[in-house]
Amino acid sequence: MTSSPVQQSVAAHPRVTMPGTRLLLYWAALLLHQAALSASQPHIVFVLADDLGYNDVGFHGSEIKTPNLDRLRAQGVELGSYYVQPLCTPSRSQLLSGRYQIHTGLQHQIIWPCQPYCLPLDEKLLPQLLKEAGYTTHMVGKWHLGLYKKECFPTRRGFDTYFGYLTGGEDYFTHSVCTDNKALKKSVCGFDFRDGEEVAKGYDQKYSTHVFTERAVDLIANHNSEKPMFLYLPYQAVHSPMQVPQEYIEPYSFIKDNNRRHYAGMMSALDEAVGNVTDALKKYGFWDNTVFIFSTDNGGQTLAGGNNWPLRGRKWTLWEGGVRGVGFVTSSLLKQRGVISKELIHISDWLPTLVHLAGGTTNGTKPLDGFNVWNTISEGSPSPRVELLHNIDPLYVDNFPCHTNNETRKSLSNNILLQWENSLFNVSVHAGIRNGKWKLLTGNPGCDRWFPPPNSSDIPDFPSFESSGKNLWLFDIVSDPEEKQDLSDKYPEVVVKLLSRLEYYNNHSVPINYPDDDPRCDPDISGVWGPWE
Ligand SMILES: *[C@@H]1O[C@H](CO)[C@@H](O)[C@H](O)[C@H]1NC(C)=O
Ligand SMILES: *[C@@H]1O[C@H](CO)[C@@H](O)[C@H](O)[C@H]1NC(C)=O
Ligand SMILES: *[C@@H]1O[C@H](CO)[C@@H](O)[C@H](O)[C@H]1NC(C)=O
Ligand SMILES: *[C@@H]1O[C@H](CO)[C@@H](O)[C@H](O)[C@H]1NC(C)=O
Ligand SMILES: *[C@@H]1O[C@H](CO)[C@@H](O)[C@H](O)[C@H]1NC(C)=O
Ligand SMILES: *[C@@H]1O[C@H](CO)[C@@H](O)[C@H](O)[C@H]1NC(C)=O
Repeated sequence: MTSSPVQQSVAAHPRVTMPGTRLLLYWAALLLHQAALSASQPHIVFVLADDLGYNDVGFHGSEIKTPNLDRLRAQGVELGSYYVQPLCTPSRSQLLSGRYQIHTGLQHQIIWPCQPYCLPLDEKLLPQLLKEAGYTTHMVGKWHLGLYKKECFPTRRGFDTYFGYLTGGEDYFTHSVCTDNKALKKSVCGFDFRDGEEVAKGYDQKYSTHVFTERAVDLIANHNSEKPMFLYLPYQAVHSPMQVPQEYIEPYSFIKDNNRRHYAGMMSALDEAVGNVTDALKKYGFWDNTVFIFSTDNGGQTLAGGNNWPLRGRKWTLWEGGVRGVGFVTSSLLKQRGVISKELIHISDWLPTLVHLAGGTTNGTKPLDGFNVWNTISEGSPSPRVELLHNIDPLYVDNFPCHTNNETRKSLSNNILLQWENSLFNVSVHAGIRNGKWKLLTGNPGCDRWFPPPNSSDIPDFPSFESSGKNLWLFDIVSDPEEKQDLSDKYPEVVVKLLSRLEYYNNHSVPINYPDDDPRCDPDISGVWGPWE
């Protein structure tokens, strides 16, 4: 908006005297221009599910029923080759900054509640850019991008309003969480629920999926229709703990696995929530000019009811089960509908895509890793993205139980390692990159199993498939999305090319920021999680 010729000339010559009518015409033109721009600026509603697995939505054949999501996806464009990061903080950081973790220092794990850092404050975020484009910006739900000082809060990073929790996970009913403070060598507990920057009281025993939906519907009902709205709605569901009102579990009594049965109920509540939010958008007249996006933040956690079958691995891993995300876009503004896009799209692409849709500019951001993929989604044109860095994390460890027979990965020294020992990229480092159809993994990518759906007894486990201590794999993901056939021996020239790309990204990485727990972090004192600096 700031770059409109009318505005620029007014701003550039503020003292030029004009005859009254000309001045009037000038302002009239300016107002008309602004009105036209805001009419063309769609409302943007972004629903982010937490830990939702590939096999956990009806439209992927799950036993979990998601009628609202199924219907919305059928009316829109499913993102069939859509990638997210394998963990909460990383995905959220890339969604809001448009930048890879190697450029923000967030390569390693997540922000644990007592660590004194956050998504760097010199990153300009999506809500700030949308606000500059004239949007009202709301956030309802999980932040997980740092809380040790108020400057890290959503309200200081571009959101006009915020309602939700700042840590990574908590009790769905009491809104409290305990965690170890390693500096204090004790477990510390506190309440974590905020309305703006204030502690939100009066929500005890109210299930977060209901509370967040109620707030979202309220924001929609009270929205000033002259302004475009950005509503970022990162739900707590379907992350552990396994909690949901009993009524949602009842239809799933046929699922024997206790975690899976609860997870299915949690997912049904989330599906109902999406139905309520989209109903509200229709009821208050916003739906026809809304771009509605649904996305998971990472793959399902099989230890907590999630499932990514037939994909390999899970949350915390660079296998497809960790990074290939469930996602779709629904909007009457889409030129194609009812299709599955096969084009490569990544969570870092939303920032440039949505800012473009909003008629804004990405001026003021650092160099973006995301691409504007609106034409790819809306018209089916080829994705501008041909390469995707999944991550490089030299500190990676995967301590979660993986193989049922307690088998662990054997030592990393083997033939494959020797073959690539002259590479300038250290192939013992946990890293993953995609280029076209090719995906290269190095180091320990994390739990390498396939997890059959928990309620099935007929699919055999794959106990020790190639757990022979390898540290380099090459897959043709387009023809082998299940990552069953390592082609590194067959296509060494592709391996060399992708290793050199990893080397390039590694050369351009900032150091990892992963501070020790801060002894000043002690919510036991105030009873509330919040800034201590
Ligand atoms: C959806 O709306 C209905 C009707 O108001 C309500 O009973 C239900 O609890 C809501 N569901 C969620 C998940 O908020
Ligand atoms: C981008 O920002 C710079 C510096 O703040 C400013 O000079 C320039 O006019 C801006 N460009 C646009 C297109 O807004
Ligand atoms: C290669 O990476 C591994 C794992 O991060 C590390 O232990 C090892 O020291 C590195 N080797 C070299 C030569 O840097
Ligand atoms: C796996 O290891 C745990 C702890 O070390 C042990 O209690 C359990 O019996 C082991 N399970 C199998 C199948 O060996
Ligand atoms: C798995 O789910 C199906 C329904 O989708 C059900 O018919 C079947 O009995 C379940 N199997 C097990 C082993 O729980
Ligand atoms: C990475 O940095 C090293 C050392 O500066 C340099 O020799 C190498 O050419 C760089 N590689 C790439 C792909 O940029």
